[in-house]
Amino acid sequence: MPVTMVLGAQWGDEGKGRAVDALASKADIVARFAGGDNAGHTVNVGSEIFKLHLLPSGILHNQAICVLGNGMVINPIKLLEEIDNIRALGVEITPERLAISTRAHIISPAHIGLDTAKEKARGDKALGTTLRGIGPTYLDKTGRKGIRTAEMLDIEKFAELLQETIASANEVIIEHGVELIDVEKNVQAYVDAAERLRPFIQDTMIILNERLEKDKFVLIEGAQGTLLDVDHGSYPYVTSSSTTSGGALAGLGIGPKYVDRVIGVAKAFCTRVGAGPLPTELNDEIAERLRGTGENFWDEFGTTTGRPRRCGWLDAVMLRYAVRLNGLTELTVTKLDILSGFDELKIAVGYTLDGKRIDTPPTTNDELERCLPIYETLAGWQEDVSQITVYDDLPQSARDYVNRIAELAHVPVKMISVGPERDQLIHVE
Ligand code: GDP
Ligand code: IMO
Ligand code: MG
Repeated sequence: MPVTMVLGAQWGDEGKGRAVDALASKADIVARFAGGDNAGHTVNVGSEIFKLHLLPSGILHNQAICVLGNGMVINPIKLLEEIDNIRALGVEITPERLAISTRAHIISPAHIGLDTAKEKARGDKALGTTLRGIGPTYLDKTGRKGIRTAEMLDIEKFAELLQETIASANEVIIEHGVELIDVEKNVQAYVDAAERLRPFIQDTMIILNERLEKDKFVLIEGAQGTLLDVDHGSYPYVTSSSTTSGGALAGLGIGPKYVDRVIGVAKAFCTRVGAGPLPTELNDEIAERLRGTGENFWDEFGTTTGRPRRCGWLDAVMLRYAVRLNGLTELTVTKLDILSGFDELKIAVGYTLDGKRIDTPPTTNDELERCLPIYETLAGWQEDVSQITVYDDLPQSARDYVNRIAELAHVPVKMISVGPERDQLIHVE
């Protein structure tokens, strides 16, 4: 069957980019279905480090057509910057290789201004958004006043719509003391961007379905993570889109009958960037060790915003939740190398809420904040595992750790990443 999904099983930044890259060499299409440039997906090829925000990681594999699906929100200026940067590194990007859905929504400077204004207004209840205009753009989409990519094909109408959106955003922004948006300058920049992007704007629903009917391999690249999903995450500390497998179908316009593999990517521990509950969060030297100092590009500092990520032990309660929500068929566990050198490791296997044991996450943040993790302690390992490519060569404790994850999550672990590079990957038989 032709569709494989790669989805974040935690709070984002699980290593989806590197997992997609590992599968993309055989893909006919690699498609993003949600989010925008709030995403930051890192792919490391030799000395080159690609940080992709809007382009699917498949762009690095010449045979793959890359699709930006209808469920996405796209900042045309950022997309062009990214296209130019990736082209400068020698990657060919043509309309035959890159298709932007006619139905995706445009992030305008108005949305970015409103994101900033709203975060400011929230004060100490700020969500910690990436300030990329994501929430306000989805709000306009569901409020039925968004601007879709197809509007870029009629430049005059596009300019008019932009002008209106920016002018009305300015009325709100001014009340929050955020800098007003220069209408003329921004409309011109967007019109110029539209001229350049026009050849790439296509009906991606048709492109995808025609390929699927011919049994071609479509690889779907999730953005954000299951626990940031607007329905199923710790609302309102979530992003504004459906990040789960259901969202993937809606965000691309394809049916479920094609999907046979749903891979959840999970780090061997937990991280979260932005506000909201993180039950296993640590604020001690263990957290610092998991985070790293920032010296290595893979240390836990946001790919998009550079913010330090909050860190903690692996949370199997949340992992089981992600398995159910997405219908995951397998897991890819990343950053196992970071756990080398610990005497012991912990995994949360359940929570205690108001004195009672629970095994699934509660709905409200008040309850989630009161949850105390019930930890199981496992033996650590001292060996460096970053050069290991065969599962049986991993230290026994590392194998026990991975096996316990699979047991607790109720799905097999099929790939283990032990470093950011392409070949630092173990396929589990
Ligand atoms: P994404 O948003 O899910 O694609 O993940 P990010 O790229 O934001 O963050 C993951 C970071 O971890 C990147 O810097 C990756 O290069 C890095 N990474 C991925 N897998 C591994 C691994 O197994 N070991 C190490 N050390 N780094 C990894
Ligand atoms: P990738 O695809 C980690 C988080 C933000 C914030 C919340 C809402 O790289 O895994 P938004 O700007 O989307 O309105 O912010 O969601 N967030 C991410 N965290 N990885 C991401 O993407 C994220 N995209 C959004 O930090 O808490
Ligand atoms: Mg990321």
